[in-house]
Amino acid sequence: MQISGGRFVVTGGASLIGSHVADRLLAEGAREVILLDNFALGTPETVAHLNGDDRVKLVRGDILRINDLYDAFKGADGVFAIAGFLTLPLTQNPPLGLAVNVEGQVNVFEACRYAGVKKVIFSSSIAAYGEPEAGLIDESAPANLASFQPGAKLYSCTKLIGEALCQLYSARYGVDAVALRYSTVYGERQHYRGVNALYIIQNYDRIMRGERPQLTGDGSEVHDYVHVADVARANVMAMASEVTGEILNVVTGDQTTIKRIVEILLDITGSSLEPEYASGGGAVKSTSGTELDLSRAKIKAMLGWEPEVGIEAGLRRLIDWRAAQPD
Ligand SMILES: NC(=O)c1ccc[n+]([C@@H]2O[C@H](COP(=O)([O-])OP(=O)(O)OC[C@H]3O[C@@H](n4cnc5c(N)ncnc54)[C@H](O)[C@@H]3O)[C@@H](O)[C@H]2O)c1
Repeated sequence: MQISGGRFVVTGGASLIGSHVADRLLAEGAREVILLDNFALGTPETVAHLNGDDRVKLVRGDILRINDLYDAFKGADGVFAIAGFLTLPLTQNPPLGLAVNVEGQVNVFEACRYAGVKKVIFSSSIAAYGEPEAGLIDESAPANLASFQPGAKLYSCTKLIGEALCQLYSARYGVDAVALRYSTVYGERQHYRGVNALYIIQNYDRIMRGERPQLTGDGSEVHDYVHVADVARANVMAMASEVTGEILNVVTGDQTTIKRIVEILLDITGSSLEPEYASGGGAVKSTSGTELDLSRAKIKAMLGWEPEVGIEAGLRRLIDWRAAQPD
């Protein structure tokens, strides 16, 4: 599909990821970008930088109300299905989180079918793997949810359902669809809702208050941190491609300890504070082991996507943005 000249809808348009997808679409010459959000979690400030661009329309709409979608999707070439509740907000409000992530997603696919939308790119998560087994994890790995906390387990199940909807609507109704499994997404316009990216932003805030950054356990927990601009680029490449019915990891393949994250933060801020060790007991957790070896071979082969922003540069971008925000 041609991005240039196209008309696209982003559900959850006021999200971290949705706002960057909008930037990317506009940079590639999209004719119209509709940001649909009910502001349950995101705020219009997330996309305030797009005010004044007459190709962008911010629509207050709820994916739980299918009529909101019929109107917005009419004449759209593609939909980025990004609206959703992450593990943290879903754990805080299971009835609404489950409704949005499951019933809301069904509405998105039904409205796409009705409106003749050609393609959907669904925001899934590596949480769909659960707590992974040792070794390289590719998209054929089974879900291992047994050791997950209940909230994380529910979130994972909603992402597996979204992925199955992609495959069903692609095979049965001719709505092309790709599910993208992101690892820990971080970057400019970062929020406080991501279980793992929270380490970054909370520790940055602590350092700026003159408090020692905190590490959980011995600091050896690893995550695969992928910059939001790379995630946005993967979304637009998936939309532009002929690929359908597939699930693709959007990961760097790099394992970074939380100790390393804190070192980089201290370095960027020029702080001499020493990290302190905290138990982290009671926190909502998602994937949290000392090994996380995710494969990006499939997305490289199918879309030609590779990450471009390394962790040091990405954290610097996040901090530059954060430092420019009012408290
Ligand atoms: N951030 C990550 O690390 C990460 C990792 C893997 C997957 N994902 C997935 O990517 C997507 C976006 O993540 P994010 O971090 O940008 O999320 P976010 O929390 O910034 O945004 C979610 C958006 O959805 C909107 N929303 C909620 N309910 C809605 C409804 N009923 N109708 C319309 N809009 C509604 C919220 O207001 C918010 O703007 C989510 O589906 C998430 O599960 C995120």
